[in-house]
Amino acid sequence: MKALILVGGEGTRLRPLTYERPKPMLPIAAVPFVERTLRRLHDVGCEEVVLSACYRSEAFDRLTEHTAPRVRIVVEEEPLGTGGAIRYATEAAGGFDGTFFVLNGDVLTDVDLAMVLERHRDTGAEATIVLTPVEDPSRFGVVPTDPAGRVIRFIEKPPRDEAPTNMINAGTYVCEQAMLEGIPAGVCSVERDVFPRMAESGVLYGCPGESYWLDFGTLPTYLQANIDCLEGRLHEPLPGIRRSVGGGHVWMDETAQLAADVDVVGNVVMSSGSVVESGARIGPSGVLGPKSHIGTGAVVSETVLLDAAVVERDARVHRAIVGDRGCVCAGRRLPADSVVPPDQSI
Ligand code: GDD
Ligand code: MG
Repeated sequence: MKALILVGGEGTRLRPLTYERPKPMLPIAAVPFVERTLRRLHDVGCEEVVLSACYRSEAFDRLTEHTAPRVRIVVEEEPLGTGGAIRYATEAAGGFDGTFFVLNGDVLTDVDLAMVLERHRDTGAEATIVLTPVEDPSRFGVVPTDPAGRVIRFIEKPPRDEAPTNMINAGTYVCEQAMLEGIPAGVCSVERDVFPRMAESGVLYGCPGESYWLDFGTLPTYLQANIDCLEGRLHEPLPGIRRSVGGGHVWMDETAQLAADVDVVGNVVMSSGSVVESGARIGPSGVLGPKSHIGTGAVVSETVLLDAAVVERDARVHRAIVGDRGCVCAGRRLPADSVVPPDQSI
């Protein structure tokens, strides 16, 4: 079975983190999001995954070394929209037949893909959309269904008072080859052009996911996605070897270094080559990216440090994201919800 992941968006709402890396390559609890997704697809029997890329596509190149599943990258010269990208990438990858998955590249979820596939086969749908309830449906594709699960209408981002339900498109689809024939060549949106037409023809079904779900496309939701993963709110393991330290737990790469007297609270992940020096306090919920560094006496909680980010001695950081090679200078107290841009010192 094949799958396609849409990874071409610019991730504008995640700037400055996405100036260098495309959104799907941002790590969630130290594992690049797209690698998490590859593992889930492999678990459900996908042998080949096509990444439909556009913005900063070279960042995905190293994934072609993956063997289970095999990964192919198809790059659009110009963004074709979600529908255009599905048509173009499936054709460029030699054609998709039978049943396949399509996933948005920015949704953290542990939805049971095998369950969705089974529901899709039971109804005989041309495509099945995973649904999830949200507080404010106006930022999403709104999907009212009849009691049998058939999609009545598909309304992309309606005004809040016009949304007929709070069940929205969760960005995970099971599709049949027949759906591809209904996508015109060129620029096209699956949400605005393809799904509304399929709903009218009665071939589109919805399936409630009943699982953890978060679109991590903004800075606050990106931080939240990391915290939720560390707090065990979704059924995915943390990377590294688990060690109990004081009252807390650290999942450590074997090359990470943690001084003996560090105070650990809650759950923390330390990636390869990361260092926490003597007298620091980390957690609850800290993610240390590769080669990141926390100095003596620093206090760091609910924070993500990306690659080679530094929190110098005696600095205090709560609810922050420190971009690649960013630095919080010695003794600084950062306001909550701060973002340190890549390569900058604050
Ligand atoms: N290859 C390619 N080309 N990928 C694209 C393009 C394109 O032109 N445009 C967007 N994508 C990718 C993005 O990288 C992302 O993974 C996915 O398609 C969805 O695009 P977003 O820009 O993130 O859309 P959204 O969040 O506003 O809305 C979508 O997701 C919601 C769930 O999070 C829609 O599918 C909504 O209906 C849905 O509710
Ligand atoms: Mg999105």
